[in-house]
Amino acid sequence: MYLTKSVLLLCLFVSPYLHATSPPAPKQTAIYSNMSIHHPVWAKQAMVSTQEALATQIGLDILKQGGNAVDAAVAVGYALAVTLPRAGNLGGGGFMLIYLNKDQKSIAIDYREKAPAKAFRDMYLTKEGKVQKQLSRYHGLAVGIPGTVMGLELARKKYGTLSREKLIAPALKLATEGIIVSPDLANSLNNAQPRLSKWPSSQTIFYKEKGKNYQVGESLKQLDLANSLKAISEQGEKAFYQGEIAKKIVQSVQQAGGLITLDDMKNYQAIEREAIKGDYRGYQVLSMPPPSSGGIHIVQLLNMLENYPLAEYGFNSAQTIHLMSESMRRIYADRATYLGDSDFVNIPIKTLTSKSYAKKLVAQINPDKASDSLDISAGKIAPYESNETTHFSIVDKWGNAVSNTYTLNFSYGTGLVAKGTGILLNNEMDDFSAKPGTPNGYGLIGGEANAIQPNKRPLSSMSPTILLKDNQPYLVTGTPGGARIITTTLQIILNVIDHKMNIAQATAVPRIHHQWLPDYIRYEQGISPDTLMRLKAKGHKLKMQATMGSTQTILRNESGVYGASDPRTPSALSLGY
Ligand code: GLY
Repeated sequence: MYLTKSVLLLCLFVSPYLHATSPPAPKQTAIYSNMSIHHPVWAKQAMVSTQEALATQIGLDILKQGGNAVDAAVAVGYALAVTLPRAGNLGGGGFMLIYLNKDQKSIAIDYREKAPAKAFRDMYLTKEGKVQKQLSRYHGLAVGIPGTVMGLELARKKYGTLSREKLIAPALKLATEGIIVSPDLANSLNNAQPRLSKWPSSQTIFYKEKGKNYQVGESLKQLDLANSLKAISEQGEKAFYQGEIAKKIVQSVQQAGGLITLDDMKNYQAIEREAIKGDYRGYQVLSMPPPSSGGIHIVQLLNMLENYPLAEYGFNSAQTIHLMSESMRRIYADRATYLGDSDFVNIPIKTLTSKSYAKKLVAQINPDKASDSLDISAGKIAPYESNETTHFSIVDKWGNAVSNTYTLNFSYGTGLVAKGTGILLNNEMDDFSAKPGTPNGYGLIGGEANAIQPNKRPLSSMSPTILLKDNQPYLVTGTPGGARIITTTLQIILNVIDHKMNIAQATAVPRIHHQWLPDYIRYEQGISPDTLMRLKAKGHKLKMQATMGSTQTILRNESGVYGASDPRTPSALSLGY
């Protein structure tokens, strides 16, 4: 059919106006792509991603009942203390990063454990100056003053909307009525038995009798923990820091040779801090400030890697892994020198997170050849050890976001339950450098900046992180994994931003890690032999080891919210509505 001249003229005349008066249709991103093997959970408005399915459901219920992301985070925080006892906790500490969407405001809540007032620099050394690891890991002296209850209460009071009773109720119910032991929990309790059974107060809760474990499908009740949760629900943080619970914690810690006093408990405060801010390829990065090293080093790594066309080099190509590893080894060298509790030491945060400093470090990197970590700075080789911490991410229907990582340090912390409370106590004191230059449980070297001082917070790697796009939360992520937290979080960001993966794909693909010392690239199975050969040819040492991290990630865009719980953790789950 031919258009008449007059119709054509009319079209030419009208079309600019049509264009000007009707706004372009909103850009709709396809929910799922047929280019991806893995797919995230999709929901229209809100999402909860945690390492344990019951806790995820509790967070979702709170959101559906009208609570905001902070309310859900508090409920999840208490729930994980019951359902994921190896890392969820009341007797540990952590960090909560909040983004309030309407106010475009970020808040970093530091509820990290503190050293007792009687702690001192050489408390883990023999007369000859040898570090006694047992004391900083499995002894009363390993316990830092717990921060979790203070942190959750601070978050709820200032940024939540629901009552304490309502947010603790689901955890209280699970502790009282019991949880069904999952394969993941049975496995973890089985592995931890030699450490936990050593303490009668722990043995009676987590094992039926000496040598007899809970089997999958059986019910595990935690009645002492239920009593503690009830007291906190009724009286708030006072019950924990000044009431019966405080007395019992102090008694158990002192009986086990530790230093925590009633005054230590009473004086503990959680602190609101300024988030570390950076930008990466047009996204604003928010992450945790000291006493975590996470935020500083994630921004530092991103500043360095922004200098390379990683998308062009390709995901997990030899060149991309080489540049990531070279950047990683340099930031861990800085970590060992400069990082500690910023309330006690001066940290050059501005320099470490500046683009110009990153360029200086990038200039040292040879694109064809691996560096030797000992040329970067002197240190000792240390083995890696297992670890456990847990992360959860939450986005509500208003676009508020919470990224929270908390921990007992090792799995089940010291392994010691404060008698009569059901509360497992952390071994966070091991995150200090017992002796500058000597590695901690994660093989991390610490310097003078992280030496033990009374009331100081030990340096952490926990990195709850939020990326914004045009001031809207875009990516909410974080992970457990000790020293690997920083590099695992980095790889989620690179996989999404540079390699354009959806978050399920970004989560599932193999990870690598380099931490300066020991001087090798640790990698997960799935990196191709050709790639490994090319890395060796560049001079890298390589070791395939256990999987790293358990990321819980949410991505929010114009087509909804997406959740991805790490398939490396069988009990992890993302749910939305
Ligand atoms: N306890 C591990 C960390 O805080 O990094």
